[in-house]
Amino acid sequence: MIKLPSLFVTGTDTGVGKTVITALLALLYQEAGVRVGLEKPVITGVKAGEDAALAGDLALLRRVLSTGEGPVYSYAFTPAVSPHLAAARAGVTIDLARIESDHAAVRSKYDAVLVEGAGGLLAPLNDDSFMADLAARLRLPLVIVSRPSLGTINHTLLTVSCAQARSLEVAGIIINNFPARPGPAEADNPGAIEKFAGVPVLAIVPHITGLSVEEAEEGDIQRVARAVDKKFKLLERLSRWREEHVQ
Ligand SMILES: Nc1ncnc2c1ncn2[C@@H]1O[C@H](COP(=O)(O)OP(=O)(O)O)[C@@H](O)[C@H]1O
Ligand SMILES: [Mg+2]
Repeated sequence: MIKLPSLFVTGTDTGVGKTVITALLALLYQEAGVRVGLEKPVITGVKAGEDAALAGDLALLRRVLSTGEGPVYSYAFTPAVSPHLAAARAGVTIDLARIESDHAAVRSKYDAVLVEGAGGLLAPLNDDSFMADLAARLRLPLVIVSRPSLGTINHTLLTVSCAQARSLEVAGIIINNFPARPGPAEADNPGAIEKFAGVPVLAIVPHITGLSVEEAEEGDIQRVARAVDKKFKLLERLSRWREEHVQ
C-alpha cells in the first residue's frame, strides 16, 4: 500500500483554500487506501448554541471522512477572529501542550493525519506562540496553500521564509483557485514561486465554479481531486517526499 505523509496544511492567508485543499487531500488519501484522520486544532466562528463538531470548516471536513469519525479539534470559539483574540475574549489561554496531546491520540489511530491550521504561519495562538510554533511542536511538514493572483509570490516567499527561519520542513506548495483563463501574472506565478522559493509546486487546483465550503458535496471536490492527481501526480510526489524525508 502507498505510504503518505502526515501534513500541516497552512496558507499564505485566511480564505486561500486550506479547508478545500485539506478535504481534497483527505479524499485522495482515502482513495489510495490510506486511513486518514483530520484535525483542526482551533476553530472560530462557532455560533451560539451550534454544535462545534458540525460548525464551519469541520462540517466539510467531516463530510469527506469515510471513517464516519469527525475531525478532531482542541478549542472552539464563537467570534470569527484570530485564535489569540477569540481565546482571550473567552478568558482562555490556548495551551499548545493540550493540542499536542490531542494530536498524539489522533496520530496513534490513523496511517496519516492532516492538520488544518488557522490563518497563516504567524497567526498568533497566545501571547507567545504562533501557528508556526504549533506546526513545529507537532513535528509536521507543511503544505502551503497559495493564491494564484498578483501578490502571491511575495506572500508565498514570506511564508516559506518564515518556515525556514523556524526549521520547519516544507513538503510543497499548492496553488489554489487557478482561473480557467489565467492572466499574465497568474500564468507566470507557479514557475516564479518554484524558482524563487526553491520549494516544489506540488499541484495547481482550478477554481471550481460555485463551490462553497458550506454546501460543497464531497463529489464536487472528489472530481477535482482525481483530475488534479492525474495531472500533477500529487500522491506519487507526496509518497516520494515521505520516503525521502520521514524515517
Ligand atoms: N478551488 C476553489 N474553487 C472555488 N472556490 C474555492 C476554491 N477553494 C476555495 N474556494 C472558496 O474560497 C473560500 C475559502 O476557502 P477555504 O478552504 O475555506 O479557505 P481557508 O480554509 O484557507 O480559510 C470558500 O468559500 C471556498 O468555497
Ligand atoms: Mg479553513
